[in-house]
This record gives sequence, structure tokens and C-alpha cells, in this order.
Amino acid sequence: MRAPSSLQPSERNPRLVEQRSEDRTVWFTETVGHEPPVARERWFNRGGRTYRSWDPSRSKLAGALVHDWRGDIPEPGERWLYLGAATGTTVSHVADLVGPEGRVYSIEASVRPFGRLLAFAERWPNVLPILADARAPERYSGFVPLVDGVYTDLAQSDQIEIALANARRHLRGSGKFLLALKTSSMGRASSAMEHLAIATETLGRSFDLDRSVHLAPHHRAHYFLGGRPRRSLFDPASGARSPPGSRAR
Ligand SMILES: C[S@@+](CC[C@H](N)C(=O)[O-])C[C@H]1O[C@@H](n2cnc3c(N)ncnc32)[C@H](O)[C@@H]1O
Repeated sequence: MRAPSSLQPSERNPRLVEQRSEDRTVWFTETVGHEPPVARERWFNRGGRTYRSWDPSRSKLAGALVHDWRGDIPEPGERWLYLGAATGTTVSHVADLVGPEGRVYSIEASVRPFGRLLAFAERWPNVLPILADARAPERYSGFVPLVDGVYTDLAQSDQIEIALANARRHLRGSGKFLLALKTSSMGRASSAMEHLAIATETLGRSFDLDRSVHLAPHHRAHYFLGGRPRRSLFDPASGARSPPGSRAR
């Protein structure tokens, strides 16, 4: 692919570059891995670096950027725990954002996507695939250190509880928390807005949340939430570890 004109590094992460036009912005990440493409994305070279297009309809984090997500994103050198890695589409871009010094511990419970995740990770040296149920974080705590960020994209009715259990066990007190909420997985008894309100209230007890964004039409019935831990996340009454130092807000 020929390099797009007028690329700008993002102020939020130099490994994320933006191409702005009057009516839209397109994003690319500087790759850590090698071809072939992970999900039919376009690759190009520019100034001795190789970039990959980031499709907002294939990745909820890219969708969140399109919908003006102002909260945290992964940054170079960070370690992330990623729940619901599937075949690695978004994992690959998170891994690009944290760069070669960062790590993405990628949890996936289904054997079939995990096989493809393993094959992909051979080309992305900072991705560590782990075949496990994210409902049991204690089973992989021996492989996952304290991390700078937890990213959750599980599409399960108990996605919030799973994310909280993992953040309590693995997230640093000053860490980042991102969650792609699929409201249609949370039952038909409540509307999407009611599910979002419940999720915001539940997570708001443990995190200082940023303004959530709706991911439609790129991802139907999905919202993107995130924030930084409050001290209450690590409250011993919740069965959690003690907060690391005084860094939790
Ligand atoms: C919506 S897909 C994730 C898509 C992926 N995050 C991406 O953007 O490329 C959800 C994934 O979560 C996995 N999953 C669901 N429940 C899980 C659990 N309890 N533990 C680990 N993985 C789980 C599913 O097998 C599926 O691959």
C-alpha cells in the first residue's frame, strides 16, 4: 500500500498515527509484528517504520477512538492483561501501542480461536497467549504480573464481575481499566441504556470513570467504558489483595 499523506503521530501515543480530513480521522498503529496481515488490514512503510490500518468496525478500541473516547489508551512500555483475546485482531493493535518493550497477556477460553491466537503470537513477540477461563484469574496469576492496564471484551452476562475480579488481582493501583460492554449479552429484561446505567454504577464504585462512548454503528449494542481504580477496588472486604502503596486514587 502507498503511504497515506498527512500522517500525524497522536498526542496520546507516538505509536498511534492519525490521518485527519475534514470529516473524519483514520488511525494506524506502528507494528511490532510481521506480515501477513492479522485481519486484512493495510500495511505501509513510512520513514523507516511500518504501520497497519486500524479498522473501527473490527476493533472496539478503534471504534472508541472514532467515537471520541477521551479516556486512557495503552502506551509504550506498559503491560496489559487482555480478557477475550479471540484470534488477536485487537490484541495485535494493543501490542503495537505498548511497543516492543511492553507486554500483552492475552486470555482466551475457546480452543479454536486460541489456536489462531497462538499462530499470530509467533509473529508478535510481545503477545503472550494464555488458554484460560477469565472467571478464574487465580489460575493464571503465576503467569501474569501486576499490570498497567486491564482490557475486557468478553460479551458475557457476567463481563463486569469478571473484569472486576481480574482488576482486583492484577491491576496496579494507578493502572488503567478499559471495557467493551456488550449490553445484548446482559439479558432482555432491561434496555441497553438501563444495562449501561447498571454497569456505570457498579464500575463507578471501584473506578473513577471517564465519559463512556456508544460504539454503534460500528459495534451494535456496545459501549466503551474505562477509568482509573479507586482505593475501594482493593478493599479487603471484596476478597482482593491490598492496594500497592498509596497509588490508588
Ligand atoms: C467479542 S470476542 C473478542 C474479540 C476481540 N477482543 C477482538 O477485538 O479482536 C469475545 C471473546 O471472549 C472469549 N471469552 C468469552 N468468555 C470468556 C471467558 N470466561 N474467559 C476467556 N475468554 C472468554 C470468547 O471465546 C471470544 O473469543
